[in-house]
Amino acid sequence: MRRPIVVGNWKMYGALSDALVLATAIRNGVENFSNLEAIICPPAIWLPEVAEVISKKNDHISPGAQNIHYLSEGEYTGEISAPMVKDVANYVIVGHSERRKYFSETTEIISRKVAAAVDADLSPIICVGEEKVAADSAEKVSRDLKNLLVDIKKNEYKKIIVAYEPVYAVGAAEPANPEYCAKVIQKLREVVGYESPILYGGSINPGNVFEFVKRPEIDGVLVGRASLKASDFIKICRIVSEYKKII
Ligand code: 13P
Repeated sequence: MRRPIVVGNWKMYGALSDALVLATAIRNGVENFSNLEAIICPPAIWLPEVAEVISKKNDHISPGAQNIHYLSEGEYTGEISAPMVKDVANYVIVGHSERRKYFSETTEIISRKVAAAVDADLSPIICVGEEKVAADSAEKVSRDLKNLLVDIKKNEYKKIIVAYEPVYAVGAAEPANPEYCAKVIQKLREVVGYESPILYGGSINPGNVFEFVKRPEIDGVLVGRASLKASDFIKICRIVSEYKKII
């Protein structure tokens, strides 16, 4: 069975002191949600220290990176590689819409990052999502996902996590329509098979998360802003953990 997952993407926020306070509060707050995997993705510079804080108490909260380079080493000033991340974490976000938009990451680059992550025994959290709703959105998003998986083998799909993040819902006032998202996710499920968790991301908060995770198609959520407030993130984790325990 797929485990429910809640990922917190802290993006480029917080000083070290903030990161440590937040990580400690989240670690303590999710301690009893043992059916859930909570993954915390701080800015890369704080990753080892956050990893140290959260790995102390339990095994269902894990650190993750927000990005990797697709090569394992070389003259690439400022970059970090998958084997480097593997020394401190087991997950990495790839293909986030902000990387596509501000760092010109193409499908080809992202597919190489997916393969680099899998080669280094990291689980890539692969983000896909359309810019705006259109009649052929589900088709387009599933085609993008297929193209992102071209460099890995089918038997490696069990290592990946997919995050469906419609771009218009990221950092927005409202999330996307949950029923519509469940339909797109059904299409993505046809691409990856039954072992890979598929999450929804985009303007998730404690008040709207249930509308998403009550749907069997949606295995969890990828959270941006609400992951920077410990009490909100913990509430989201509680709702996902409790609901997914029942079904
Ligand atoms: P928000 O939850 O702030 O909309 O961000 C979503 C996101 O980009 C998570 O990766």
